[in-house]
Amino acid sequence: MSSYIIEGGKRLNGEIDISGSKNASLPIMAASILNKGITKLYNVPDIHDTKMMIEILKSLGCKVKKNKNKVVIDSKNITKYEIPENLMHQMRSSVIFAGAILGRYKKAIFSYPGGCDIGARPIDLHLKGFEKLGVNVNQNYGKIECSLDRFTPNEVNLDFPSVGATENIMLLATLGNGITTIVNAAMEPEIEDLALFLNKMGANIKGAGTNIIKIIGVRKLNDVSYNIMPDRIETGTFLCATAITGGETILKKVNNSHINPIIEKLRESGCIIEINNNELYIKAPKRLKAIDVKTMPYPGFPTDMQSIIGATLCVANGTSIITENIFENRFKYINELQKMGAKIKTEGRTAVIKGCRKIYGAQVNATDLRGGASLIIAGLIAKGITKINNIDYILRGYERIDRKLQILGAKIYLA
Ligand code: UD1
Repeated sequence: MSSYIIEGGKRLNGEIDISGSKNASLPIMAASILNKGITKLYNVPDIHDTKMMIEILKSLGCKVKKNKNKVVIDSKNITKYEIPENLMHQMRSSVIFAGAILGRYKKAIFSYPGGCDIGARPIDLHLKGFEKLGVNVNQNYGKIECSLDRFTPNEVNLDFPSVGATENIMLLATLGNGITTIVNAAMEPEIEDLALFLNKMGANIKGAGTNIIKIIGVRKLNDVSYNIMPDRIETGTFLCATAITGGETILKKVNNSHINPIIEKLRESGCIIEINNNELYIKAPKRLKAIDVKTMPYPGFPTDMQSIIGATLCVANGTSIITENIFENRFKYINELQKMGAKIKTEGRTAVIKGCRKIYGAQVNATDLRGGASLIIAGLIAKGITKINNIDYILRGYERIDRKLQILGAKIYLA
């Protein structure tokens, strides 16, 4: 695995474009197989996770062409309904194929998905939702075999507004016979993007973005071209990168309506942020103020930003408290930040961060995608050189983060 070397202390300045959303691209790529035809996707981030999705699509029999951020999927002649185990283990989002394959083939075979180790990450809500809609689920030695004799339209009440379960149920119900209602659905913008994509493809989905989604089954879908929404977590990452360095940047091609919770927290910590259509301007103070952050399902503060804001607050003035309410194992990055001199203590779901004037470069290890990004944030302000190992985790979700930071004046190199 390669590493990043960061020479800390450079104030970020300048402008960059934000890439397409990873978490919107993955389910939309899976959804493409519902239509026996051609899907053209634009603004797909060129990252490891989208490449893995292409591998799964190919393994099912799709023809896929990729040119930078454009991906064309031809799913006319899919022959398989089993997701290979090795690909399943590479990433969590592979489970989203289950709903799409079932929707098209009425049967699907897959295994427990892999992905970042940030908590237990069960798929019970996905499977319960499937069963409620008439799917027979059989589990054998880690293999999950699903078959659907007759789709039963129903109301699916989610115990928790799981993003993945909401998406999987939407995918299964798109070609289902009758009206499926998801109650306590996840309201994340990526769910809305998936619904916009599916509706453009001929589906009839109402209420995506609220906690009640109605999927009125259709018989047939059509070919579609779709532009993926901007990545709100990448946007938040660059806001924090600017904030920690006392910088001043403009982020272009963003969707400002998706990132209010992040903007509000950074304003509270002393940043000036101006919103202008699809651009964001941020000017950070010399030293940030400590703030408290609690992660919540959307529209709350996103769990994917928890480690990134955590690293940002390491050098704030005062003590910040962070509470992680979504994933129980999302504090692993803190051990690494401690190696850089950060003063953080954790107790259960809470982290107490005593802001210090300086943190120091060290050799650290990325522990997961967003945890890895948090080490970059810390490295940008640390005195001396930071070496981040295991950056493959970071490459899963960020398109050329090193290049974009270089454009803003950071000294970060691939080693
Ligand atoms: C998605 C995002 C991830 C983000 C997360 C929460 C993608 C590709 N990933 O992940 O970046 O951090 O939403 O915003 O979009 N749960 C269960 N049973 C289930 C499913 C989930 O108990 O069947 C629990 C999980 O353990 C977790 C919580 O629900 O505690 C949220 O998980 P979920 O919303 O499903 O996250 P993902 O879809 O995996």
